Amino acid sequence: MATIDEIRKDFEIINAGEYVYFDNAATSQRPRQVLEAVSSFYKTTNANPLRGLYDWSMGATEEYENARKAVAAFIGNVKPEEIIFTRNTTESLNLVAYSYGMDNVNEGDEIVVTVMEHHSNLLPWQMVAKKKKAKLVFLEPDEEGFISKDEYTSKITDKAKIVAVGHVSNVMGVTNPVKEIAEYAHEKGAIVVVDGAQSTPHMEVNVKDLGADFFAFSGHKMLAPMGIGALYGRLELLENMQPFLTGGEMIEYVTREDATYAELPHKFEAGTVNAGDAVGLKAAIDYIQNIGFDFIKEREEKLTTLLMEGLAKMPYIKVYGPKDPKKHCGIVTFTMDGVHPHDMSSVLNDDKICIRAGHHCAQPLMQFIGAGSTARASVYFYNTEEEVERFLDKLSKVREVMGYGA
Ligand SMILES: Cc1ncc(COP(=O)(O)O)c(C=O)c1O
Repeated sequence: MATIDEIRKDFEIINAGEYVYFDNAATSQRPRQVLEAVSSFYKTTNANPLRGLYDWSMGATEEYENARKAVAAFIGNVKPEEIIFTRNTTESLNLVAYSYGMDNVNEGDEIVVTVMEHHSNLLPWQMVAKKKKAKLVFLEPDEEGFISKDEYTSKITDKAKIVAVGHVSNVMGVTNPVKEIAEYAHEKGAIVVVDGAQSTPHMEVNVKDLGADFFAFSGHKMLAPMGIGALYGRLELLENMQPFLTGGEMIEYVTREDATYAELPHKFEAGTVNAGDAVGLKAAIDYIQNIGFDFIKEREEKLTTLLMEGLAKMPYIKVYGPKDPKKHCGIVTFTMDGVHPHDMSSVLNDDKICIRAGHHCAQPLMQFIGAGSTARASVYFYNTEEEVERFLDKLSKVREVMGYGA
């Protein structure tokens, strides 16, 4: 088992120690192994995949398809053709909304989401609802961010065609009871779409066990490059869906007036694919599996506990989400009396501490909790106890900097 010092050597950007990076929920850092895998692809194998009949192109195709197999195994040993590479979670969810939602939701139907959704898992459904005259129904959490059984059993009815839920909230840090919600949604005849952007970096995911008909995630939040993500879709559903984007690579045969489409998964991957970053995603999966989710969870729980214990000593801080630090997935959202989160973040930036401030692309949740804006510190396994101490020390001085008495 690698030590935290050894692990940090893989992350040059943070290992220098100048910056404390606590914005991991927005995007993680990438280890050397991922950067080298991408670089090696371009140095040794680069050619347009899936097109050429020469060594480099066939090599690029092989690496790209190996990456797909790695993703399929990573989220619960699904079939590789059930994995569509996309740019990110946002594109994956838009694909489902447009290619499934627009054809399967009708006037009077309901689309159920939670009020905690990231805009990526809300706006596509708003578009479908508007276009198809369907109704959006919102599941609301309790004070700590938990969605109760009463809440989802009373709001998911026979009218629901789609239930779209985030696996882990990027603000509250809670893990939603997706498996239970999916079971109930299926009984009512709805399909279940899961936004896994914040779960795949932190926990083992098995999409079949979860009951997800679709599951979306981004590589960049789990050590991979930006610009590569994936969508899992149940084969029968994907087979019956129209393509989202059309053009090169996704066809079987084209005439002047019409076209037939390629087999899965290529039907949904129009244009030149992002093979280099897919290779990076495979390297990220290898890295995470080598470290293991037990280690990741243990580190995050330790750091989050320390963080929340420190925040609890500051009476002017309000923390959102579960009281139990172990239920935060490394995400701690808070406000400070009298200081706007943007000011907090700017003052901390002067001390080279990176946190997020704003609405976190979850404005309906901000409205629900009655905060226009919040600050968010999010840790990952490579952060250290010393970094948490440095953050707490500097945070405790922010009010003074803003003109309040010590
Ligand atoms: C819960 C959740 N869903 C979706 C997204 C969107 O991810 P991306 O910007 O990679 O598409 C994010 C990103 O912050 C997120 O936290």
